[in-house]
Amino acid sequence: LEIDTLRQIDEAADEAALEAVRLSALGKKGSISALLATLGKMSPEERKTEGAKINALKDKAMDAIAARRESLAEVALETRLKSETLDMTLPSPASPLERGRVHPISQVTDELAIIFADMGFAVAEGPDIESDDYNFTKLNFPEGHPAREMQDTFFLAPEGGEKRLLRTHTSPVQVRTMLSQKPPIRVICPGRVYRCDFDQTHTPMFHQIECLVIDETTHLGHLKWTLEEFLRSFFEVKGVKLRFRASFFPFTEPSMEVDVQCRRQGGEIRFGEGEGWMEILGCGMVHPNVLRNCGIDPDRYQGFAFGVGVDRLAMLKYGMSDLRAFFDADTRWLEHYGFRP
Ligand code: PHE
Repeated sequence: LEIDTLRQIDEAADEAALEAVRLSALGKKGSISALLATLGKMSPEERKTEGAKINALKDKAMDAIAARRESLAEVALETRLKSETLDMTLPSPASPLERGRVHPISQVTDELAIIFADMGFAVAEGPDIESDDYNFTKLNFPEGHPAREMQDTFFLAPEGGEKRLLRTHTSPVQVRTMLSQKPPIRVICPGRVYRCDFDQTHTPMFHQIECLVIDETTHLGHLKWTLEEFLRSFFEVKGVKLRFRASFFPFTEPSMEVDVQCRRQGGEIRFGEGEGWMEILGCGMVHPNVLRNCGIDPDRYQGFAFGVGVDRLAMLKYGMSDLRAFFDADTRWLEHYGFRP
């Protein structure tokens, strides 16, 4: 009887089957209840030994039923969870008006990638968490040089003895590209960069696109042409007047800052007219030390590089005035400045 009952409990496929087994063993007319009823006709000694046995059997059956009930409940919950999952990747039934928008940063990054792809540039990427070596040292920032502080760096705890930081510019991707690729090189590197800075035109995280060209005969004229071509396509104007000002970056020689001609009208900025100038990027010819640090022979190759603020370009092209709004995730702002997917 014991073996039979326990087997039936074990084999009960659901709550209802288990309840039927329980009734057939422990119900009023159940097999174990019937055994208990026989105790009344026994002698006191017999009752003692048999009673203990039967009660032990009853306890065992009750325990087994409780255990089985629990495991059935678990299985039931499991199947329910499986059948009730939501597929978050399915398209939403919302009306087109309620659909999300493409953020101006993504939009401008895509526009730039297309413009540069047409000029034969590939896209290269690097990590936001960079080594001090790639962000500074290989780019010819001398140890302890004030230029390192120029960029108000967020440092991280060192890992495996290596100094780490949030990259302050996309220029370390130049290093990564030169270390992994042989010239001729033509890449753009879009990405997030970080500096301790916060006001209407600065956020601690912003976006840059780096451009790097290395070849045997690359010269300053190529840099100027590339800049003019890209700004002309980007701003969709016939001619953009650029102004090159001598500047300093440890990783370029000579170094320049580039301003575009503009007119300021109240809070608005208009391009290609007026007497005003607005700084939009830094550039120069890649410093021979940088080429050497990255295993490229400076006697055979030379190149140019520039780094441009994507957020700045977006503000200029689409007329936003406060950079901080880019990262507030205010849906009204996104609805206004975002692009249709
Ligand atoms: N990395 C520089 C910056 O962030 C910009 C730059 C890039 C300048 C490449 C020259 C060449 O300020």
